[in-house]
Amino acid sequence: MTSIRRCFSFTFYETNGEQGAIETITTASAMQAQAQTLRNQGKRIVLVPTMGFLHEGHLSLMRLGLAHADALVVSIFVNPTQFGPGEDLEAYPRDFDRDLALCRDEGAAVVFAPQPEEIYPAGFQTHVDLESLPKHLCGKSRPVHFRGVATVVTKLFNIVSPHMAVFGEKDFQQLTVIRRMVRDLNLPVGILGGPTFREADGLAMSSRNAYLTPAQRPAALSLIQSLHLAREMAANGETDARRIVEAATGMINAHPEARIDYVAVCNPQTLEDLTRLDGPARMFLAVRVGRARLIDNMAIN
Ligand code: PAF
Repeated sequence: MTSIRRCFSFTFYETNGEQGAIETITTASAMQAQAQTLRNQGKRIVLVPTMGFLHEGHLSLMRLGLAHADALVVSIFVNPTQFGPGEDLEAYPRDFDRDLALCRDEGAAVVFAPQPEEIYPAGFQTHVDLESLPKHLCGKSRPVHFRGVATVVTKLFNIVSPHMAVFGEKDFQQLTVIRRMVRDLNLPVGILGGPTFREADGLAMSSRNAYLTPAQRPAALSLIQSLHLAREMAANGETDARRIVEAATGMINAHPEARIDYVAVCNPQTLEDLTRLDGPARMFLAVRVGRARLIDNMAIN
């Protein structure tokens, strides 16, 4: 029996008296055909991959992408393979209609929003694995995460054929993994890192901030406060990375709701722990506050 699947649609919006259309594509084959058409027209495609529930941080990446694009493609896909057992795959916040309206307002030409079976059909068994970068930081407590990210991003690159793709620096380890993967596999995609977008009080924007209650906010803010402390210590001449980690840890642990996953000062290229600050150093944090696992990072020297 054959079934006809709805693989693309146009949604019309009227915002501020202005009308426009955004194309929503749900199958890999329709997206590949559209990418080919755009390329044949000489258009430069820029991809912003997301898992939806868009916030200002995503919008800032779209604006950055648009500055380099003739056609901005936003993918919205909650990628199951980057969630481990017991993580928040089912609970991950979703609001497709709102996301679509935001993408349209930002000037995206296409939203690629496949279902999981489209990306991982029955029998799927090929993954992209990096040797050492995924073993550090988040990879220690999320052992399958970066394999899932590297695999889905490779697939998105093959489906959307972007000239360039934009990723946020908030997920600095992810950005480092993707840059390495692109070099190692000779993928013809330029990678652009977008600065971390913060709420007015300094909390790094994340879809998972939706899990935080107002009472948990002070604990969540201890991340940015401890990054500032680390930077200040380095500026005042502290070169012992362990002392900086200790001070940041103490600041976060002052909040009983905060449970540290890691506090680390690392080489920003290899992500290996540093003992002394005698070259570029970046502090990385992952802290659970209630249901939210928050991450943040900053160059400290
Ligand atoms: O950063 C994210 O939202 C995801 O890890 C990504 C890059 C869209 C892959 O699923």
